[in-house]
Amino acid sequence: MIRFVGLSKSFGSKSVLDGVDVSIGKGEVFFIIGQSGVGKSVLIKHLIGLLRPDRGEIYLDDQEISRLTERQYFAVRRRCGMVFQHSTLFDSLTCIENVALPIRKHKHLGKKKALVEARKRLEQVHMEEFAETFPAALGDGMRKRVAIARTLTMDPEFVLFDEPTTGLDPVSARRVDVLIRELADRLHVTCVVVSHDLTSIFSIADRIVMLYKGKVRLLGTRDEFRRSADPVVRQFITGSAEGPME
Ligand SMILES: Nc1ncnc2c1ncn2[C@@H]1O[C@H](COP(=O)(O)OP(=O)(O)O)[C@@H](O)[C@H]1O
Ligand SMILES: [Mg+2]
Repeated sequence: MIRFVGLSKSFGSKSVLDGVDVSIGKGEVFFIIGQSGVGKSVLIKHLIGLLRPDRGEIYLDDQEISRLTERQYFAVRRRCGMVFQHSTLFDSLTCIENVALPIRKHKHLGKKKALVEARKRLEQVHMEEFAETFPAALGDGMRKRVAIARTLTMDPEFVLFDEPTTGLDPVSARRVDVLIRELADRLHVTCVVVSHDLTSIFSIADRIVMLYKGKVRLLGTRDEFRRSADPVVRQFITGSAEGPME
């Protein structure tokens, strides 16, 4: 459903991605892992047209999207949701009002109907009992779930999560993991997750790609990662200070 073919990207003389081939299936929970600065965010920014490749192509279903005009990209971005590391909720609005806002704006619904749909979205992330609460009164994990509910209002086919559990306490982090898994299993949303969180990776990923020095080091299932004899992969997944990684 999403395919990167021979994707290369440099910034000035610095090569970040160098011939990356990755395909992501519909409804998959797909993790992108690797050291800081390896190009994980750069890769997902290509998908929504925030960056354009120097070489290579990106396909969404069968459509090549990397050379669309800005205008043509609107249709692609509509199919895609983003959940950022830091919550971007409005503190002056309650949770349900935050979720209702894009519904009113994009679906042109009246306030009452928008609130009905917003409540349904909050149920999908198990936050309905906090509908009338202001985001500032909630912990980071709960705010993240509300942000996910807000993203779902756009009926995205795929959602990009950039480090969704970074900075969360372990219990909140695991709840976010469960939620991501549910989005894929129940709503068939393709979830593309950039993460260093080994617990998340090994509990919910269908497949994982590890980037290293601009290239795909390994693409496979959790079991393939666990069984990998590649010393670079082993060092990363055991979180070891000693090893061949630079
Ligand atoms: N817009 C940009 N201009 C110049 N360099 C960039 C830009 N975006 C990313 N980079 C560089 O590309 C490399 C990969 O960045 P990034 O994808 O953000 O890493 P990460 O894997 O931690 O998400 C970094 O060295 C970063 O400095
Ligand atoms: Mg990043």
